[in-house]
Amino acid sequence: MFTVKNIRKEFIVDFWKDPFVALEDLSFELEKGKITGFLGANGAGKTTFLKILLRFIQPSSGEISYLDGVSTNDFFKNLGYMPERPYYYEYLTGREFLRYCGKLQNLKSDKIDKAIDFWTHELKVNFALDRNLKSYSKGMLQRIGFASALLHDPSLVVLDEPLSGLDPMGRKEFKDILLKVNQEFGCTVFFSSHIVSDVEEVSENVVVIDKGSLVYQGNINSLLDQSASKLVKIEVDRVSDELQKAEHQIIEKMTIGSRNYLYCYKENQEKLIKEMANSSINIISLNQESYSLEEVVYKLNG
Ligand SMILES: Nc1ncnc2c1ncn2[C@@H]1O[C@H](COP(=O)(O)OP(=O)(O)OP(=O)(O)O)[C@@H](O)[C@H]1O
Ligand SMILES: [Mg+2]
Repeated sequence: MFTVKNIRKEFIVDFWKDPFVALEDLSFELEKGKITGFLGANGAGKTTFLKILLRFIQPSSGEISYLDGVSTNDFFKNLGYMPERPYYYEYLTGREFLRYCGKLQNLKSDKIDKAIDFWTHELKVNFALDRNLKSYSKGMLQRIGFASALLHDPSLVVLDEPLSGLDPMGRKEFKDILLKVNQEFGCTVFFSSHIVSDVEEVSENVVVIDKGSLVYQGNINSLLDQSASKLVKIEVDRVSDELQKAEHQIIEKMTIGSRNYLYCYKENQEKLIKEMANSSINIISLNQESYSLEEVVYKLNG
């Protein structure tokens, strides 16, 4: 979809000091038709890169080449973008704001109204379309922002931290829509996040940056397999000595209040569960622990 070559971005913070290097020698390629997560800790340089990609700011050096065979103009026409901190005209209603966005895309009025109906329904914000944006909650503004990025059936959507500020249900709904725009509408998705599990759930590919430099680009499963074995957290009704046989499969036992947890590696999960069944220990829940960004970056940096 686009190719990034040796992007460097320096910010002059203090005239008398060396410039701050926000991005250094960043090179990667975004695969067409896929969902790619853009992972990095706070301050890693994600927003800075997205601003360069969208040409809001210039890189100090390096270049981005947009889709082969498509003019830069067409590339931008077919791009939908949701910024990290969007600015809304608060005195407009949701509908007026979206119509305005549609007009800016040169869409016809009937197409705009159809797209508004469709996406605000999908994003569950249609009930508030005739209210002033001033009265919207943070999550509702996020939904309107996402709808505005999708109105013109873009072939690429770029979303800067689309899941931040959403409640668990909202996060799930947004992730479902990311999958829908990709699978049903064939749209390439590039979204930034600092939560590995969010990226893991919806993305096929991932680009990981740390302090402005690329640490990984490629398939997310290969990245996570490359990291340590996965941990499984099992909540049980009691932890008893009868489990001694399975002791070497248990990494850790933990009691928090009245709750008992056992941790094991995924590959030992089956044996441990059999031992539990033999000892009449009941499983209350079983969850695969997700990696934190720190663990992934730490592994990648060796
Ligand atoms: N205009 C600017 N002037 C000086 N420094 C800047 C400027 N914009 C960004 N930076 C610095 O560049 C670094 C990267 O910032 P950026 O906003 O790209 O991080 P991010 O990965 O998007 O973080 P977050 O997850 O918190 O959104 C930070 O150290 C930031 O302070
Ligand atoms: Mg950011």
